[in-house]
Amino acid sequence: MTVREVQDEIIRLKKENDFCILAHSYQTHDILEVADFSGDSYALSKAAATVKNRNVLMCGVRFMAETVKMLSPEKRVYLSNPLAGCPMAEQMSREFISDVKEQYPDYTVVAYINTTASLKTVCDVCVTSSSALKICKAIENDKILFIPDCNLGAYVQSMLPEKTFKLLRGGCPVHAAVRPEAVTLAKKLHPDALFLVHPECVPEVSSQADYVGSTSGIMDFARKSDAKEFIIGTENSISEHLQYECPDKKFYPLTKSLICENMKSTTLVDVLNCVRFDGGEEIKMDAELIEQARKCIDKMIEMGG
Ligand code: 13P
Ligand code: SF4
Repeated sequence: MTVREVQDEIIRLKKENDFCILAHSYQTHDILEVADFSGDSYALSKAAATVKNRNVLMCGVRFMAETVKMLSPEKRVYLSNPLAGCPMAEQMSREFISDVKEQYPDYTVVAYINTTASLKTVCDVCVTSSSALKICKAIENDKILFIPDCNLGAYVQSMLPEKTFKLLRGGCPVHAAVRPEAVTLAKKLHPDALFLVHPECVPEVSSQADYVGSTSGIMDFARKSDAKEFIIGTENSISEHLQYECPDKKFYPLTKSLICENMKSTTLVDVLNCVRFDGGEEIKMDAELIEQARKCIDKMIEMGG
C-alpha cells in the first residue's frame, strides 16, 4: 500500500468505527494529515473534553492518553503505541512528592501536565507549557512548588519575580540536552533568523531566544511574524510542519538531536491498526484514580489554562 492508500483507509475506518484522532504536533506529517485535531498539550486537553465520538485515539505519549481518559471517562481511549511514554512524566512518584510537600506545607503544588495520573492525585493544579505562566500568576498563594520540569519552572519564575518558587531536578531529557553552544552555532549559520524556543530548554538556551513559548506558541509566532527565517528550538517535527505551512519562509532546526523518540515511536501503520481495533492499547483507569487525579486538571481548565 502507498502512504496515500493507508491514509485513505484510516479516514474510511475512523468514520465507520466512530473514532476521533488526536495528534500532538510532534507527530510526523503523515499522521497529522489524518488527525481530526492536532496541537500542543493544552490544545489537545481542551479538545479531549469536547470530543463527541465513542472512540478516541491519541497519537502522542501515555500521559496525553490518560488525560483524555480522565476528561472523558465514558469513552474508549486508545494510545497508538503502548511503548510511547514520556520520561519526564515518570521522574517523580506520588510518594516522593508527598514527602517533599511535608517540607513545604504552605506551598501550592503546580504540576506540569507531563506527569502520571498517580502523581496528579497529590497536586493542586496542572499546567501546560502554554498556560504555566498565566496559572502561576493567578494562584493567590505566592509560594509555588513547581514539578517536575525545573526549566519550565525557572522560566515561569523569571517572569514572576514577586513569587517564591521551589523547583526540583526534573525535566524533558530531549529539550534539556540542548547546550548553549548549539545556539551559538545556529545563529552563526543563520544570522538573519529569529530564534524561537520551548521553555523546556535550559535557561542558558532559552535566555538567548527572541521568543519563548509552547509548541503552539512557537508555531503561531512564526506564522504571524514578518520575519523570513527562524531557528526552531523544539522538537524537529515543528520545523518540518512550519515549512509545509509557510513555504515562503525558512525554518532551521536548532540541532539535529531535538527528536523525541517516544513521540516518534508511533507510525502511520500503528494508526491504521488502532482504527481497525487491532493494535495500540486501550487506556484503563480505576474510577477512584480518575476522580482524584482529574481534580487538578479540572482546576487548570477552571483557571482558563
Ligand atoms: P507542549 O505541547 O505544551 O508544547 O509541550 C511539549 C512537550 O514536550 C509535550 O510532551
Ligand atoms: Fe516527554 Fe520531552 Fe518527549 Fe515531550 S518531548 S514527550 S516532554 S520526552
